Amino acid sequence: MLAAFVSTPAPKDPLSVLEVGDRPEPEVPEDWTTVTVKAASLNHHDLFSLRGVGLPAERMPMTLGCDAAGIDADGNEVVVHAVISSPGWTGDETMDPKRSLLSEVHQGTLAERVAVPRRNLVPKPAELSFAEAACLPTAWLTAYRMLFVRSGLRPGSTILVQGASGGVATALIELGSAAGYRVWVTGRSEAKRAAALALGADQVFEPGARLPERVDGVMETVGEATWSHSIKSLKPGGVVVICGATSGFSPGAELNRIFFLQLSVIGSTMGSREELDQLIQMCRVTGVRPEIDVELPLAQARDGFERMLEGRTAGKIVFTV
Ligand SMILES: NC(=O)c1ccc[n+]([C@@H]2O[C@H](COP(=O)([O-])OP(=O)(O)OC[C@H]3O[C@@H](n4cnc5c(N)ncnc54)[C@H](OP(=O)(O)O)[C@@H]3O)[C@@H](O)[C@H]2O)c1
Repeated sequence: MLAAFVSTPAPKDPLSVLEVGDRPEPEVPEDWTTVTVKAASLNHHDLFSLRGVGLPAERMPMTLGCDAAGIDADGNEVVVHAVISSPGWTGDETMDPKRSLLSEVHQGTLAERVAVPRRNLVPKPAELSFAEAACLPTAWLTAYRMLFVRSGLRPGSTILVQGASGGVATALIELGSAAGYRVWVTGRSEAKRAAALALGADQVFEPGARLPERVDGVMETVGEATWSHSIKSLKPGGVVVICGATSGFSPGAELNRIFFLQLSVIGSTMGSREELDQLIQMCRVTGVRPEIDVELPLAQARDGFERMLEGRTAGKIVFTV
């Protein structure tokens, strides 16, 4: 079957090891099933996988991809929850120390078919297209958990989103503004800042800009490049929620501000299956839909990877199968 995959890691030149071609059908363990993929979306995680981050060479070749929407073996339209917990685990899947994401241990979703545990299937409502549904399991679910589960913030709070055009950033802007947060956004170009305003941002700023006032919370995915600005932008008692560090993992710690202003630093990762279902219901009720930058046939996956590596994003990149 057709798939996008990696056979050897390349920490410095990830696109050099991206392969789009034939892969064997996925193995289906007991209590797992096969989903025929209709759409799959790209995440920065897939670039990290090509670099060998979280995916050692001994687990390759590996089909890439965490996110998919498709049709299960019984003909139902489904969204795939990407967090694979260990056998027998109950409760919040993200708290399982032995969990993995699809494409870390088990073959991923950028393929014609993917094998997943039956419990990882969530019904796809007819209102959502396969492309929209395929954006939800990683970037959108992560944004949902950051905003509504981990932050402790309430509607009416002012939040700063670092980054305007990425998958998680656009989800934070859309979900945050739909829920009644005042959403401020930094973006690296005029066009990206304008797009953030169109998605519902209240105000936009250049990276590192001085804000009109300090904010209640910052949503961080960028890491090293924005961390200092994030900490300096918080009110006393404010909270920074971090789910990623695209630009690097060694920020200036700003320890003095963190203790003196009694700030909270909260980590957040993915979301539970239940939260994915709640996110889907939120999309139904509010009419919010993932901003899709581009839809490409899976055979043209390289084009999508290039866009993301070069930062040429304007929402989610979706591959149709
Ligand atoms: N922990 C989890 O469960 C989880 C889940 C999802 C994602 N993540 C992480 O979150 C991060 C974002 O993922 P994504 O899929 O949304 O990626 P993406 O689509 O490639 O978006 C990258 C974002 O980073 C911003 N950015 C700002 N400064 C940057 C810099 N100096 N270098 C690179 N990017 C910069 C970009 O802002 P502009 O718009 O201004 O270009 C853009 O919004 C990744 O690190 C990913 O691994 C973690």
